[in-house]
Amino acid sequence: MTRIEGEDQGFGEDASAPRSRRARHVVRRVVPSDVGTLVEVLARAFDDDPVPQWLFRGDRRRRRGLRAFFAIQLRHTYLERGEVYTTEDLAGAALWSPPGRARPGWRDLVRLVPVMPYLTGLGRDAPEAARLLSAVDAARPRDPHWYLATLGTDPDRQRTGVGSALLGSVLHEVDAEGLPAYLESSKESNLSFYNQHGFEVTGEIRTPRGGPTLWLMWRQARPPAA
Ligand SMILES: CC(C)(COP(=O)(O)OP(=O)(O)OC[C@H]1O[C@@H](n2cnc3c(N)ncnc32)[C@H](O)[C@@H]1OP(=O)(O)O)[C@@H](O)C(=O)NCCC(=O)NCCS
Repeated sequence: MTRIEGEDQGFGEDASAPRSRRARHVVRRVVPSDVGTLVEVLARAFDDDPVPQWLFRGDRRRRRGLRAFFAIQLRHTYLERGEVYTTEDLAGAALWSPPGRARPGWRDLVRLVPVMPYLTGLGRDAPEAARLLSAVDAARPRDPHWYLATLGTDPDRQRTGVGSALLGSVLHEVDAEGLPAYLESSKESNLSFYNQHGFEVTGEIRTPRGGPTLWLMWRQARPPAA
């Protein structure tokens, strides 16, 4: 894949906003020195997400668990084997796994051991959490695709076009390759955002006793604009 660097090509602009208010964001690859800031950004972005709310019982435990999780996910999984993008002001991050790269396996599970102490409040829902992880893995399509593992914008910067810029710039390249893309959304309120970028819901994974629902979303490649 070619380098994705340069201005957002309009994906993040709100057409109803006056031009002066439209945000433009430069998207670039994440480098190791960004990781500390982006761990905090992603932990804040996902603090109210139904999955961590369910997995990490208690505010303190959840914040620490999220930080531990994103530090491992960024540093060890996606910087090593994926593609990770941010904006020049580190307002958000998108973690992608391109087709043909190794999918998370036992090595990645072992690396998640530092997150385990924060899961101790799960109690009788622990087997459900394991079932959820395994259902997510089983549902992932086998056809070659770009997988969006994580997309998050700092809460103070949401609705200013950061998420659209991060998503749109990679999708632009993915379309050029003629490949589909896939993600799981843990918030129903995000579905319209992803719909706007061409993703369609193809399934749902539910957990019992008020646990989270995940929406599975697939996006066919779009012909690049002439
Ligand atoms: C989902 C998420 C990544 C979107 O990122 P974002 O930076 O807020 O995205 P954008 O600003 O590009 O677009 C979001 C909305 O703001 C609107 N918007 C964009 N720029 C705007 C502007 N300048 N003024 C007003 N609204 C604007 C968009 O039209 C869009 O509206 P919609 O949701 O009604 O379709 C972000 O909300 C987030 O991090 N959420 C928490 C973590 C999460 O749920 N991640 C996804 C996991 S599946």
